[in-house]
Amino acid sequence: MSKIDAYLNDHRQQFENELSDLLRIASISADPAHAEEVRRAADWMVEQFKKLGLATEMIETAGCHPMVYAETPAVPGKPIALVYGHYDVQPADPLDEWISPPFEPTLREGNIVARGATDDKGQMLTHLKSVEAWIEAIGSLPIQVKFLIEGEEEVGSRALGRYLKDDGAKKLACDVVVISDTSQFAPGRPAITYGLRGIAYFQLRLTGPMQDLHSGTFGGGVTNPANTLAKMLSALVDDHGRVQVPGFYDDVAPLSEKERKAFADLSFSEEEFMNQIGVSGVTGEEGYTTLERRWARPTCDVNGLTSGYQGEGEKTVLPGRASAKFSFRLVPNQRPERIAESLELFLRDRCPAGIEMELTSSTASAGFVISLENPFLAAAARAIESGFGKKPVFIREGGSIPIVVDFHRVLKADVLLLGWGLSDDNTHGPNEKFCLADFHRGIRSSAALWAELAKMDEE
Ligand code: BES
Ligand code: MN
Ligand code: MN
Repeated sequence: MSKIDAYLNDHRQQFENELSDLLRIASISADPAHAEEVRRAADWMVEQFKKLGLATEMIETAGCHPMVYAETPAVPGKPIALVYGHYDVQPADPLDEWISPPFEPTLREGNIVARGATDDKGQMLTHLKSVEAWIEAIGSLPIQVKFLIEGEEEVGSRALGRYLKDDGAKKLACDVVVISDTSQFAPGRPAITYGLRGIAYFQLRLTGPMQDLHSGTFGGGVTNPANTLAKMLSALVDDHGRVQVPGFYDDVAPLSEKERKAFADLSFSEEEFMNQIGVSGVTGEEGYTTLERRWARPTCDVNGLTSGYQGEGEKTVLPGRASAKFSFRLVPNQRPERIAESLELFLRDRCPAGIEMELTSSTASAGFVISLENPFLAAAARAIESGFGKKPVFIREGGSIPIVVDFHRVLKADVLLLGWGLSDDNTHGPNEKFCLADFHRGIRSSAALWAELAKMDEE
């Protein structure tokens, strides 16, 4: 690794400049007005891969943002790794809460601050740069590395899901998928994430009278969609933090005692957690700790609410419409389709006379967990130890990467979630950041990973 280390050392500034270049592209996948920027980011990825001499392909998708594929030469007898990541980002709102503009990357206290810094441009780029180091310093890689970088992770990975079902599985065939789109446990405590939650996302629209009414003239005699929405939503979770949709817990994979003990041993500070997010207390499902609730128990959260008058001052109005976006985070074995069916009945049951209800389900993906005995985890742990100077801890996380389950099922590949981020990186929020020291440690770990994977079949 000494030639590689020398290369990494000499190119730190170049790597940071390149990350800044990518962060300047406002590749917001959710917003049609940014489609051109999304494509510019895909072009930028293609350029990067081509410069390294990799066989590279822009994969066009019907009506969706393009995916970028690249591969290094095959190395017979060695495992194949597929790096998955995304170049798309979430919208930058609320804009006025950013200290510097979201698409003008700025260095502050050792962090690079910009939308996409940690999720996922900075993390994803570590694997490109490690491959670059192998090629430039050694001449070739000890295993074949494939890349699939998509532009729709933040909106549900529809195109990639289809691609995997159609002809993509052949091209993406691999032994292990490597993803850096999660977090370390804490600063200086690198982690391997062995489980993620799934998600089932819904939009509920309630329609009452044909237009907004005077709430004095009509109030009391007309069913109010906003009141109804509040009632319906509050029925979803009881006072013990239990989701009330029938059958919701039927398939839930329970936490083992061993796992609960391992979580408890992580010395998680609830007080620090509360300080980080600025709250004076926490609640959740009774009988579970905060880490258990966030990582391994299913939940329901309202994500958005709209109804009635939202402007300055008062307006006595009985709104004609009310709508909500809400989602369930799911744990392994829960089936999103089953929950959608049961939820529809649950809400219909609570829909009073005078209200029309429309429930649409969008993103749905199952939870994911990989066995701690998996030999790829041990190889990744050695690589991380060499990059971070510390053994990683094994954690689960509450977020979702919908395509992970499909990779596991369709490609029959194991999945390594090697996150270089931190839980206070402000992912999806204002002032998103990524620690540059972790950027470089991630690159070093990734470089070591290719060597560790190459050793695996010789053991
Ligand atoms: N990188 C995140 C997933 C993530 C977040 C993993 C936190 C672990 C901890 C990913 O980009 C993401 O935001 N996923 C969405 C999926 C959704 C848009 C379908 C999520 O989790 O909300
Ligand atoms: Mn991500
Ligand atoms: Mn994200």
